[in-house]
Amino acid sequence: MSKLFVSEHPLIHTKMAMLRSKETGTKEFREIIGEVASLLFYEATRELPLTDVAVQTPIAATICKTIDTKLAIVPILRAGIGMTDGILNLVPTTKIGHIGLYRNEETLEPVEYYCKLPADVEERTVLLTDPMLATGGSADMAIDALKKRGVKNIIFLCILAAPIGVERLQKNHPDVDIYAAAYDQELNELGYIVPGLGDAGDRIFGTK
Ligand code: PRP
Ligand code: URA
Repeated sequence: MSKLFVSEHPLIHTKMAMLRSKETGTKEFREIIGEVASLLFYEATRELPLTDVAVQTPIAATICKTIDTKLAIVPILRAGIGMTDGILNLVPTTKIGHIGLYRNEETLEPVEYYCKLPADVEERTVLLTDPMLATGGSADMAIDALKKRGVKNIIFLCILAAPIGVERLQKNHPDVDIYAAAYDQELNELGYIVPGLGDAGDRIFGTK
């Protein structure tokens, strides 16, 4: 089964309190989503393979280590975009793909409407981002879309996860580790995470 990592770091707890508050406005909310994404990315890349590189310091020649896999960030449209810059700050040359999903109003299941990925995506470790893992329908379909295009290494990063979404991903994609800043127990009748932080896309982009 895949790993579920939920951060217990004091910095993330503090930032989550700010994200959850309904008093936090769009500018601050967007900035904090980016900061939490950076901190999660730091955790999620802990086990990436390393390779030796020769480095000449001002004093002597030495052997250092660098990450030995190419990365790609793939946000799920649209709220996943809010996490991209925070990750790019740490790995600025990383390629970016996009997956767009909308929800079928009758089935409530997501439908893929857009997918544009780096040409060599199957050689890359993909950091799939979406702030919210609620029923898991969106992340499940986005991972299917990546696998259909040959991606073998996928790590899912979210700000908030709920048990039903985690179970769905672990059942359908036992090879995809999940990194979350926080884990809430419930969804309400509209599919929102409780206590949650509201509609992540609307809060990031100021659309409500
Ligand atoms: C939100 C969120 C996820 C999805 C999670 O997107 O960003 O993509 O819901 O719910 P699920 O786990 O039940 O699929 P939404 O559909 O509101 O679109 P948006 O990103 O355009 O706001
Ligand atoms: N999507 C959101 O934006 N928020 C939730 O709580 C659940 C799904």
